[in-house]
Amino acid sequence: MSRVVSDADFSGTRYVDNLSFFDGRQTLEVEDLPRSGGLSRRMDGPSPTLGELLKRVGDTRDGTEREEDNTPTHRVLELSESSLIGQRPLPFVLSFTNLTYSVKTRRKLALPFSKNRLATDTDSAETLSKSSRTKTLLDNISGEAKDGEILAVLGASGSGKSTLIDALANRIAKGSLKGTVTLNGEVLQSRMLKVISAYVMQDDLLYPMLTVEETLMFSAEFRLPRSLSKTKKKARVQALIDQLGLRRAARTIIGDEGHRGVSGGERRRVSIGIDIIHDPIILFLDEPTSGLDSTSAFMVVKVLQRIAQSGSIVIMSVHQPSYRILGLLDRLIFLSRGQTVYSGPPSSLPLFFEEFGHPIPEKDNRTEFALDLIRELEGSSGGTKRLVEFNKSWEGTKFPRNPLSEKSPGYSLKDAISASISRGKLVSGATSDTESASSVPTFANPFWIEMMVLTKRSATNTRRMPELFGIRLGAVLVTGFILATIFWRLDNSPKGVQERLGFFAFAMSTTFYTCADALPVFLQERDIFMRETAYNAYRRSSYVLSNSIVSIPALIFLSFAFAATTFWAVGLSGGISGFIFFFFIILASFWAGSSFVTFLSGVVSHVMLGYTVVVAILAYFLLFSGFFINRDRIPPYWIWFHYISLVKYPYEGVMQNEFGDPTKCFVTGAQIFDNTPLGNVGPAMKTTLLKTLSRSLGVNITSTTCVTTGVDILKQQGITDLSKWSCVWVTVAFGFLFRILFYFSLLIGSKNKRR
Ligand SMILES: Nc1ncnc2c1ncn2[C@@H]1O[C@H](COP(=O)(O)OP(=O)(O)OP(=O)(O)O)[C@@H](O)[C@H]1O
Ligand SMILES: [Mg+2]
Repeated sequence: MSRVVSDADFSGTRYVDNLSFFDGRQTLEVEDLPRSGGLSRRMDGPSPTLGELLKRVGDTRDGTEREEDNTPTHRVLELSESSLIGQRPLPFVLSFTNLTYSVKTRRKLALPFSKNRLATDTDSAETLSKSSRTKTLLDNISGEAKDGEILAVLGASGSGKSTLIDALANRIAKGSLKGTVTLNGEVLQSRMLKVISAYVMQDDLLYPMLTVEETLMFSAEFRLPRSLSKTKKKARVQALIDQLGLRRAARTIIGDEGHRGVSGGERRRVSIGIDIIHDPIILFLDEPTSGLDSTSAFMVVKVLQRIAQSGSIVIMSVHQPSYRILGLLDRLIFLSRGQTVYSGPPSSLPLFFEEFGHPIPEKDNRTEFALDLIRELEGSSGGTKRLVEFNKSWEGTKFPRNPLSEKSPGYSLKDAISASISRGKLVSGATSDTESASSVPTFANPFWIEMMVLTKRSATNTRRMPELFGIRLGAVLVTGFILATIFWRLDNSPKGVQERLGFFAFAMSTTFYTCADALPVFLQERDIFMRETAYNAYRRSSYVLSNSIVSIPALIFLSFAFAATTFWAVGLSGGISGFIFFFFIILASFWAGSSFVTFLSGVVSHVMLGYTVVVAILAYFLLFSGFFINRDRIPPYWIWFHYISLVKYPYEGVMQNEFGDPTKCFVTGAQIFDNTPLGNVGPAMKTTLLKTLSRSLGVNITSTTCVTTGVDILKQQGITDLSKWSCVWVTVAFGFLFRILFYFSLLIGSKNKRR
């Protein structure tokens, strides 16, 4: 819901121009502004939030838009100037105490000569206790982060930075993590945290063929509520593009290995952008500056500082901050093998190390010095134990913890969140009245909007990669062509019948195999899906549905191509209606096959493993389809597999389409002896043999008598239990079943947490 107020005090572009958080053109200035930034002139409180700014953007626009937003529900809150300027929003304090996280390591063979190594390791935090074989990744870490500030986690690679961020972001399974994380004294519910926070991962997962602008716009459509007009969403995206310094790359595609796209640093910033679009209250970032040059890195942290100043808690890990970046950070936690070696503001670093007995030389970069010293100590025999101890006592004397203030920052979480929302934070459709503040809606948009946006995004991305579809089409056409030439114009002799059976079995299983191509595509999408749903960008159900819808047009095309290349070339029967059925059954198999592969991509997350499983299962389906062995010959304990074999139904469907005509003859009297030792005798001899046979059987069989009709073949093959259209419906139903299973696999599998 947009909180647009027609507050005369804020109308006018001049004001908007003064706001550093909103006006991106100012972000290219890299000089270090004072902490309150350019805002100090107008307000004492922190920077305005996105919501506030959007309100004013609305006011600066002409009446047409205001009209749209003029509905009473949008006027949930009337902000007066004093409420914005005089008052600081209720503060948030995220505190964490005694966070400890260990993982079980694989039992190693304790070789005699490895004893020494183990002995030194026990001194460090990376305790490899012999009895339990656990490795402690986080060891008793405590601290707090406040809104308006950036808390940075520093340390060498492998020191546990990402682990700490995961722990704070509730991405470690409950049972494994010890200690507490509270927001304003209250233990955070996982559902609540998902709504009010965002997590920017270390790796960038984006749709490769969308431009930067489109990527951010889609994110805005997911995260910002429907009630916010499109113009405002666009304004937000444009502001973000400027803030992140992406103006020049705005219309460039993201790109991947095959397509040239934006640079690595730009990708990084887009990844950050899509997660901060809704102005979360808590923002977690894992190394947002890695891989960026110093200016870009500084710009990113600068943006983060602005977000913090607008009333958010920003917690990030950083490898080696430059001197300028250090100036933007408010609190530091240095980690070494999962233990805290320093915790406090950057300004206290020199004093800390001086008192520890290692003063930082004048010209040295403080963090560099600290990290080097820590690494040195890690390598020494005593490890960092002394530093850890020193830090504990130092913290105790310099920043004595006040248990009272820690417990209650004065405001309940509920009040703080609703105050924050009423200031315009968390633009996710939250209402601002106090009663419902605790029930912030889980998703910004209704189901059908999500579906539309997802479908549009996926369609845009797919449309720009025509080669992917081209390859699939090529595969189908080549298979169709080979089949057409091998099985060219089959006749109705007993040999022809055998060849028809072979053609059907092969063609029907090929349709399924072709679907396996889609596995990597699904897997790539799955990662994006995981990231987006972890923080409630959209519902899983809308993803499953849109994913199905998007796949259908391509399937129709492929089915038609395959049916058209083979049907007449092979000489299948049934004319036009036969062709239409043939097309539908192939479409149904493609649908079932792609649903099956999609489902597998939800279960197995690895490409190679996925292929192995797909190929193996399809082979079993073919084996049990009824082509190699008739139903009545399958051992009773395997018969269930025959019924779940996806290939069975399309195979039986096309067989009935071909052999369903009772008037059509496939074996005449003269052809009885084909495929037998008597096949080579002359026609005169065959006539004599037939006469003898007729006499003994008491039935007259001449060389033109029909001995086997199509229906007889169906009976021989055991294809008697379903009509041909039932086969189509069963195949289609299998497709739906796998889509539903896919949904459940995502529901269960996408917890996105460490154990
Ligand atoms: N399942 C596990 N079993 C054993 N050790 C693990 C496991 N998961 C993580 N670790 C170890 O925990 C340590 C901390 O990992 P973490 O990813 O937090 O490091 P980091 O500080 O983020 O490093 P980087 O800067 O390289 O990202 C590493 O030494 C890693 O090898
Ligand atoms: Mg890391």
